[in-house]
Amino acid sequence: MKNLDDFKKFIIAHTQPKNTALVPEITLYQASKITPIWQASEKWLQENNIEPPFWAFVWPGGQSLARYILDNPEFVQKKRVLDFAAGCGIAAIACALCQAAYVEVADIDPMAQAACTINAVLNQVILDCNTQNVVGASNRWDIILCGDVCYEAPMTRHIWPWLKHCAEQGAEVIIADPGRAYLPQKELEAIRQYDVPTTLELEDCTQRQTTLYRLSIDTHPK
Ligand SMILES: C[S@@+](CC[C@H](N)C(=O)[O-])C[C@H]1O[C@@H](n2cnc3c(N)ncnc32)[C@H](O)[C@@H]1O
Repeated sequence: MKNLDDFKKFIIAHTQPKNTALVPEITLYQASKITPIWQASEKWLQENNIEPPFWAFVWPGGQSLARYILDNPEFVQKKRVLDFAAGCGIAAIACALCQAAYVEVADIDPMAQAACTINAVLNQVILDCNTQNVVGASNRWDIILCGDVCYEAPMTRHIWPWLKHCAEQGAEVIIADPGRAYLPQKELEAIRQYDVPTTLELEDCTQRQTTLYRLSIDTHPK
């Protein structure tokens, strides 16, 4: 098994620091073309038993969350925030730039943790990038951000009860979804929409309307 330094070297060798049109304030190590990194990653990652490089792209969910936070810094100021399934960590970096009290990123892919670590350095912020599997943990956050997490049925089934549990324990859970098939249709309150430019290499369109939802919990006893 490779270590964090090997992951960081791989990321720096196969990506370039860039920003996105929607979030020009944040620079991230990103793949410029999908095919080369997917191929490079596939061989190297297969040898090391690691997932595809989601962390090398900034998904519409993460971009929308970051835009919302940078435009509404009071939302996260002095709050303890979790960027769940953080990928490259764009939402977490936005929170740190906006003076959140504490920003934790969690992603089951150790390459994503490495990407978040070096992206934090690139943007001169401090993130806690130590957490991998947080699903099932007791809530310790004021805000949980979830960018683009409903792209597979098993993942949605796995995370949804835990997200609801965290919301019941007091966390404000925000889901940013660009119309993925498995987004549950109940218990969501839309709070903001963005048109996010996308690449045809990743999506089947050049723009995705992405909605930020608050997971609303019924607090009235039945
Ligand atoms: C489509 S990417 C979204 C990344 C980022 N939130 C964004 O919007 O740019 C989904 C991410 O979910 C992570 N992931 C999948 N299952 C997870 C789980 N059970 N716990 C934490 N992260 C998970 C993947 O490793 C991947 O980085």
